[in-house]
Amino acid sequence: MQSAPISPLSGGGTWFDETVFELTNGLKVALADGSQILVRWMVPEDVPAVWAMEQEVFASPWALENFLYELENHDYNISLIAVIDGQLAGYSVSYHVYDELHISNLAVAPNYRRRKIGETLLTINLRIAQMRSINYVHLEVRRSNMPAIALYQKYGFQIVGVRKNYYQNEHEDALLMTKKLAMEIANGVV
Ligand SMILES: CC(C)(COP(=O)(O)OP(=O)(O)OC[C@H]1O[C@@H](n2cnc3c(N)ncnc32)[C@H](O)[C@@H]1OP(=O)(O)O)[C@@H](O)C(=O)NCCC(=O)NCCS
Repeated sequence: MQSAPISPLSGGGTWFDETVFELTNGLKVALADGSQILVRWMVPEDVPAVWAMEQEVFASPWALENFLYELENHDYNISLIAVIDGQLAGYSVSYHVYDELHISNLAVAPNYRRRKIGETLLTINLRIAQMRSINYVHLEVRRSNMPAIALYQKYGFQIVGVRKNYYQNEHEDALLMTKKLAMEIANGVV
């Protein structure tokens, strides 16, 4: 997929510390293959490109308005994009309530997979959760989605339940996965 060009410098964010500053200005992360991605807050101007990828990646994609709605909720929303060579490579959308973080969307463009971009987005979410003193991180994943399940298990998520027929269009169950956060996440993001 040739995604829409993304500006490397723009951002939002409502709270202030080093990571927030870096995410606002663009956090540079070196990948194992020597390439570099830039991770920053998603802003409304990014949503058309994000939505284009969403439609390519998911059988039941979010509507464009879902992303915009999430971005309006600055107090609890955590939406990130990963940019590589000026192109959108991935994104995540999470929200926190009380001491819990819910990862509601995470995707990497098909032509950028297996380069640790999904892992980078996940670990930045975990880092932000740790900084906000969040205790539990939850998500739902399709029972058949082995790549995503493997990614979450790599970071200590455990299957704690099943939501029967959660994806109704495809009659597929969701696995509910949870990670209890401890202080083991090292400084740095990956
Ligand atoms: C799941 C997804 C985000 C992974 O992103 P990615 O950037 O390709 O993954 P990474 O390169 O960061 O891989 C990190 C780990 O995830 C696991 N993983 C990722 N892809 C995998 C695959 N195809 N098969 C098995 N394990 C896989 C591995 O544990 C991997 O660690 P390793 O490289 O040490 O083996 C990506 O496949 C994707 O966008 N899928 C479609 C959307 C989706 O399913 N989102 C999740 C919804 S819950």
